[in-house]
Amino acid sequence: MIRAYPRRFCSSTLFRPHLSLRAALRKVRPPRHRPGSRRPDDRMLYELARPLLFQLPPEAAHHLALRALAVWQRALQQRPRPAAVHDPLLAQDLWGLSFPNPLGLAAGFDKNAALPHVWPALGFGFAELGTVTALAQPGNPAPRLFRLPAEHALINRLGFNNDGADAVARALAARLAAGRPPAPLGINLGKSKAAPLERAADDYCASLRALHGLADYLVLNVSSPNTPGLRDLQAEAQLAPLLAAVQDENRRLAGAAGVAARPLLLKVAPDLADDALPAVIAAVRAHGVAGVIATNTTIDRSVLPNGHPLASEAGGLSGAPLRARATAVVRALHRLSGGDLPIIGVGGIASGADAYEKIRAGASLVQAYTGFIYRGPTFARDVVAELRALLVRDGFANVAQAVGIDARQ
Ligand SMILES: Cc1cc2nc3c(=O)[nH]c(=O)nc-3n(C[C@H](O)[C@H](O)[C@H](O)COP(=O)(O)O)c2cc1C
Repeated sequence: MIRAYPRRFCSSTLFRPHLSLRAALRKVRPPRHRPGSRRPDDRMLYELARPLLFQLPPEAAHHLALRALAVWQRALQQRPRPAAVHDPLLAQDLWGLSFPNPLGLAAGFDKNAALPHVWPALGFGFAELGTVTALAQPGNPAPRLFRLPAEHALINRLGFNNDGADAVARALAARLAAGRPPAPLGINLGKSKAAPLERAADDYCASLRALHGLADYLVLNVSSPNTPGLRDLQAEAQLAPLLAAVQDENRRLAGAAGVAARPLLLKVAPDLADDALPAVIAAVRAHGVAGVIATNTTIDRSVLPNGHPLASEAGGLSGAPLRARATAVVRALHRLSGGDLPIIGVGGIASGADAYEKIRAGASLVQAYTGFIYRGPTFARDVVAELRALLVRDGFANVAQAVGIDARQ
């Protein structure tokens, strides 16, 4: 549409409002540069834009962000960026995959795998797309996403809204046609709401068939609080046969394609009792699961201030109030597994110090969602730079050396 206007109009700030805002900002405030930041302008812009963005209902703000990033995705997918500079302090190889840094985007932000090239360009070391279900589904009725700004938290009961595995696979394959992004892509699989629990394995396997060839790793999500009964699949009696069926299909698909089976990870809830964790580790070991993601959102509201007006909203709570419990689960899983099962730590990471806490508790990699909402587009670069500074301060030559340091004491 812009092309219809004469060139001199197109180049005016009228058509590039972001440029005029940047220019205005430069006039009113001199550029600030906090240590660790490479993009002070972008951070400042988000600090200004956030109050406006937060005037919108949370889901509307989310869709606006996705639409803005989709413009960038289209440019990146035509000419994928080369790999980021290799940083020996932050880079790790796990499951035969190279992670340029340990911070990933957590599942749920990019449910339809629309932005695979954007996440590494924003500084994430990997991204977990989905949750995708075999059947397309609209999710729960709105309102279903709530901000708790004072607590740096969110409550969501979205209920796996997504386009369904076949449609997501087709669209993702098209986006990856010119090249994969320079960081691993996980795909998180959930159970379709319409599938009865007894048919859960068939339902997960249908998603697996659609998406197997596109993912660097896969995640079996049995821990969302927003699909009725889903978390029952974490119980020993359900978990073992489910893992067996999904791993059989994983191996069958890999054999047919002449490749190795994809690393399959299990994502667990923070609300599992401590005494349920040994059975999880046993099932994971018995079925060759490559790692555990700890944790999903919590249904516990005792971590909120007494009488919080949103405490009675159903759904999963994420962000700062979840941090301590998620770290405790990471630590417990690391200890129970003797430290040789890779763990992805997630829950309440909003800074490099938070990421470092999860790593020292036993996480080889970390992920974040809610912190990204509150800190904005410079989040990943800032957190990674902060984490790097902490690793240097403590004399580590590589992030892997810090994994589980605090769980041993
Ligand atoms: C709005 C929202 C949607 C989410 N959707 C999913 C999802 O589809 N699948 C999933 O495994 N986790 C989902 N999560 C959970 C996150 O991946 C993560 O485990 C949790 O939010 C804790 O991390 P955080 O405190 O950094 O947000 C969602 C979280 C939020 C806030």
